[in-house]
Amino acid sequence: MVRATAPSGTPRGPRPVGIFGGTVFSLFPVRRSAVEAPQFVGQDVEVLCADGQSRRYVHLDNTASTPALTEVVREVEEFLPWYSSVHRGTGVKSRRSTEVFESTRDTVAAFVGARPSDQVVLVRNTTEAINVLSGALPAGTRVLGTPVEHHANLLPWRRHDFEMLPFPASADELCASCDQALREAERPFDLVAVTAASNVTGEVWPLARLAQIAHRHGARLFVDAAQLAAHRAIHMAADGIDLLAFSGHKIYAPFGAGALVGDLGALSHSAPFMRGGGAVLMVTADEVIWEVGPERHEAGSPNVVGAVALAAACRALSAVGMDEVARHERVLAAQLRAGLEQTPGLELFGLWSGADIDRVGVATFQLPGYRHPLLAAILSAEHAIGVRNGCFCAHLLMARLLGLTTEELQALSAQFHAGQQPAIPGAVRASIGLGTTSADVDRLVQALGDLADHGPRATYHYEPDHDEYLCHQLSPV
Ligand SMILES: Cc1ncc(COP(=O)(O)O)c(C=O)c1O
Repeated sequence: MVRATAPSGTPRGPRPVGIFGGTVFSLFPVRRSAVEAPQFVGQDVEVLCADGQSRRYVHLDNTASTPALTEVVREVEEFLPWYSSVHRGTGVKSRRSTEVFESTRDTVAAFVGARPSDQVVLVRNTTEAINVLSGALPAGTRVLGTPVEHHANLLPWRRHDFEMLPFPASADELCASCDQALREAERPFDLVAVTAASNVTGEVWPLARLAQIAHRHGARLFVDAAQLAAHRAIHMAADGIDLLAFSGHKIYAPFGAGALVGDLGALSHSAPFMRGGGAVLMVTADEVIWEVGPERHEAGSPNVVGAVALAAACRALSAVGMDEVARHERVLAAQLRAGLEQTPGLELFGLWSGADIDRVGVATFQLPGYRHPLLAAILSAEHAIGVRNGCFCAHLLMARLLGLTTEELQALSAQFHAGQQPAIPGAVRASIGLGTTSADVDRLVQALGDLADHGPRATYHYEPDHDEYLCHQLSPV
């Protein structure tokens, strides 16, 4: 129960002083080289293609996971000799591990522009953050969401009194329908839960406007920032975002940590979602006194290596400057869309249309004649390009974009219930990140153009058990 750190629940103040003197942040200064040109682990990896040639691997699946920043790995390696238990030991290594873990909260809070009173819960990822939040809210909490969401920001809310807005055709329509739903609700909503940017179509959502609308009607705003954190600056305090979650593995820190940030006061009335050691002040045979700070939601041994990586990524991205990141990626995203639009027959999906839509660099598309698993297999086997195919954990949105009928959805459902693996409808998604280059985008556009003009150059067979295609010329990895 006795900690070397500040008492839990204490609002963050000035930076904590490191046990070796100086601030803990000075233990891991961001190198100048990382500021000027971020480097990523594995950028030069080559893979064997179906024609027997090796090609540099092009990672265009940044929406799913991003490569590690070398700066992140350097900080992790620098920390590892000091690795020990967090909140659980009195040895120097334990104290240092605890201090580094605790300091991550301030770094994360600064990265997302949180209020001084906000707290940071360190979790595995966005999914865990939303489950922690949803699981600690009182039963029957009134939550308003949207059908655009990733399953992570949809399914955890179904344990509450959950309603969804209709699909919005524009940012204005989203705000108007949100306002109307909150205004006309017979019982007021407690929480509005929205994505910050779609993981399928990339539109950036009007968070400040949504916060104003939610607050006007007495609700709070939760933002799933999994797809925004790596690509745009986040201003929780300035925009009025009450609660927010994001994942380290989507911001170049794939070491298993993410964060839930915000005013956790409403979560202190019921037991936490995760229960176990570290989350309590005292346990008797018939009573539990839960922690009052973020530790209440962090039962079990914390992932301090993940926290080191998460903080390192936040610092490295801030050093580059999120506006600079956005500028770089907007150029590449425009190049990607323009290239895809020129590919004969290619259908590009979007939720909102118009030249002035701000999108993160995500493009989801179909090429007629090539089912999505085949198209993804061809890009991999013949061009060494990694993309994602399927429905991207956003089944409601994909059903809408693909125009699936109720009958088609029922037929798919019946096949799953019968224990079969149906050939699911879907699309291919290419997504860029800070490590993407103009040459990478060209590689994809040329590969698709080549395929549209000449067809595949290798042969493939279908594996119905996994709904995937394997290339005959390559042995499975
Ligand atoms: C918008 C969105 N929310 C939530 C998640 C879930 O993130 P994680 O798998 O890191 O929990 C994802 C993952 O792709 C996502 O795109």
